[in-house]
Amino acid sequence: MSVALETPDVTYFKRYRMEADLSLPPPPVPFLPIGFAWIPWSAELNDTHAAVKFKCFRDDLDGVVFPNLRDADGCRRLMREIADKPGFRPEATWLISHGENYVGTVQGIFDRAGTGCVQNLGVIPSYRGQGLGWALLLQVMHCFRRFGLANTRLEVTAKNEQAVRLYRRAGFRYRKTLYRTVDALTYALADIDWMV
Ligand SMILES: CC(C)(COP(=O)(O)OP(=O)(O)OC[C@H]1O[C@@H](n2cnc3c(N)ncnc32)[C@H](O)[C@@H]1OP(=O)(O)O)[C@@H](O)C(=O)NCCC(=O)NCCS
Repeated sequence: MSVALETPDVTYFKRYRMEADLSLPPPPVPFLPIGFAWIPWSAELNDTHAAVKFKCFRDDLDGVVFPNLRDADGCRRLMREIADKPGFRPEATWLISHGENYVGTVQGIFDRAGTGCVQNLGVIPSYRGQGLGWALLLQVMHCFRRFGLANTRLEVTAKNEQAVRLYRRAGFRYRKTLYRTVDALTYALADIDWMV
C-alpha cells in the first residue's frame, strides 16, 4: 500500500526519485505502432497537452496524489507553469496522436543542475498496453542525450507499479524516497478502491 502513514488530517504517499545514466549505451530508438504519430511541442498545443494530461491522470493514482491532475483547469494551469519555466524544453515535449485523437503526452525540463527531468508522462486509458508509454519515455531520453545531458530523473508514486516497471526497463534506478502529503478531505473524496 502506498500510504505510509495516516493522521486525522493528512495522508502521506510514498514517492521514489529515480535516475538514469544517459552516458551508457543509448536506449532503444522509440517507434510508434502504425496509425500513431509524434506531434512536437508548439505553444498553441498547451491546452491540448493539458486535456490529454487530464484524461490520463483523472482516474489514476496520481490524480489523488496531485489533485490538480484530476481537474481540467488544474491541468491547464500546470501546463502553463511548465511551459513558462526557464528549463522547459520544447524539444523534449511531445504528444502522440491517433487520427484525430491525442492519446499521450510528456514534457521535458532541465533543472538547475543540468539534469533532464521527465514530467507527467501519460497515455489515456483506452490506448495503454501498446508501447506508447515506453515510446514517450525513450523519445524524451533521446532528446536529453542529443543535448549532451549525463543524467535524467523523474519522480513516481511507489504504488504506481506499472510506471515503476516502465522506468526500470528504461534504465532508471531508485535514488531517494520522498513523501507527498494529501489532506484528508481530498483523499476521502477520491475513488481509492484500487489502492487497498
Ligand atoms: C504508466 C503509463 C504511462 C504506461 O503507459 P502504456 O502506454 O500503457 O505503457 P506501455 O504500453 O509502454 O507499457 C505497459 C505494458 O504494456 C506492455 N506492452 C507494450 N506494448 C505491448 C504490446 N504491443 N502488446 C502487449 N503488451 C504490450 C508492456 O510490456 C508493459 O507491460 P508491464 O506493465 O507488464 O511492464 C500509463 O499507465 C499511464 O498513463 N498511467 C497514468 C498516468 C501515470 O501514472 N503516469 C506516470 C506518472 S510518473
